[in-house]
Amino acid sequence: MNLHESEKAAGILRSLGYEECDKEEDADLILFNTCCIRDNAERRAKGNIGAAKVFKRVNPDLIIAVMGCMTQQDSAGEALARKFPFVDIVLGTNNLDKLAECVENVRSRRKRSVLIDPCQNPAICEDMPVYRTSGTNAWLNIMYGCNNFCTYCIVPYVRGRERSRTLANVTDEFKRLIDQGYKEVTLLGQNVNSYGKDLGMKNGFATLLSEIAKVNGDFRVRFMTSHPKDLNEEIVDIIASSKNICNNIHLPVQSGSDKILKLMNRHYTRDYYLSLIQMIRSKMPDCGITSDIMVGFPYEEDEDFLDTLDLVNKVRYSGAFTFVYSPRKGTPAADMPQVPAEVSKRRIIELVNTQNRIVKEISKEYEGKVLRVLCEDLAPKGEGKVCGRSECGRMVTFDGDKNSIGSFYDVKIIHSKSASLFGEVIK
Ligand code: 5AD
Ligand code: SF4
Repeated sequence: MNLHESEKAAGILRSLGYEECDKEEDADLILFNTCCIRDNAERRAKGNIGAAKVFKRVNPDLIIAVMGCMTQQDSAGEALARKFPFVDIVLGTNNLDKLAECVENVRSRRKRSVLIDPCQNPAICEDMPVYRTSGTNAWLNIMYGCNNFCTYCIVPYVRGRERSRTLANVTDEFKRLIDQGYKEVTLLGQNVNSYGKDLGMKNGFATLLSEIAKVNGDFRVRFMTSHPKDLNEEIVDIIASSKNICNNIHLPVQSGSDKILKLMNRHYTRDYYLSLIQMIRSKMPDCGITSDIMVGFPYEEDEDFLDTLDLVNKVRYSGAFTFVYSPRKGTPAADMPQVPAEVSKRRIIELVNTQNRIVKEISKEYEGKVLRVLCEDLAPKGEGKVCGRSECGRMVTFDGDKNSIGSFYDVKIIHSKSASLFGEVIK
């Protein structure tokens, strides 16, 4: 989501005549796109913003701007402007459409702007210029905001309520991307399964997927993120029956303990989640299922953590993002009793080790199998090697050169190393 928002900001800046440069000291403008989902993201952003001051000393005309979630937290934008007086522009999450105007104001009369609109029902801005940087894959927002208020999460406070783009706007942009030659489109939303609810659509995401699957062309579609409480059988049936929609679902569980899921306000139980996994696998045995998992949430005891480990062992995710819970000011969980840091540390190490072992085992099972891979890029290591993801989302390295990028290949997996697969093109 943030990467794509940076692409939108880059599109606006390019329309003003700016181009990318490699080094900060050469820049006329530095824009920080911030995140505040966990404390370390926020600390890193503040550290980087503070460090930019030196570049302004060398080049007093340098424009420094800050955007993204961090600015939108309860009066954080104003505090940021006070703490970093050398920052020229601070924009809230619904003020990106004002970036061009703010930059012009600094350029013409060094006018500083701190624009942070509240998140209540902002309009969706269509037709913003986008400077896409993600190679063969294009990101496509289908909705903004979140209604779920998981008790640990800052997103609903900094992004506001769910707002879906219309079916026509989404499918038009989708068709344009395919016409432009993108081979993979990732549909984005905090909870894509509730797409269209705010527009009065019934099962809007299933409708959207089936509309997109009808588009002609050689492409594949991914989507993220799915909330387990809203992923229904109709959606899974459409994914299973559409050859262009990847058998790959990111379905964050967060915890394997019913007690913790309730405290998190997730609206499902462990058994319900496991039954969803079973339903998905019965329709798509090869589906890559990934997750977000958290340890150290308030009140988490050893037996709750063991429930999480047990669930991870049962589901056998093909990948997982693992986090230590980080209290976010203003969210309900921040006022609950906190788990000691050393306990969380012990748990995250055990969780990561378990997940790594599972990924390694799954990788071994792919040896000898053939996967359809979209070549995305030159491999970071190895002359004459390229890499790309399989339909189920696994990264595969194989022989090729820059002309291979953007084509689909059937690749036979020869060997594996942890999460990485290595193969030979057979077609
Ligand atoms: N602390 C740790 N992890 C968090 N996430 C969201 N909020 C927090 C928090 N306060 C994780 C969740 C979510 C992912 C995007 O980030 O697992 O799915
Ligand atoms: Fe945050 Fe996702 Fe929960 Fe929304 S559904 S509150 S974005 S974790």
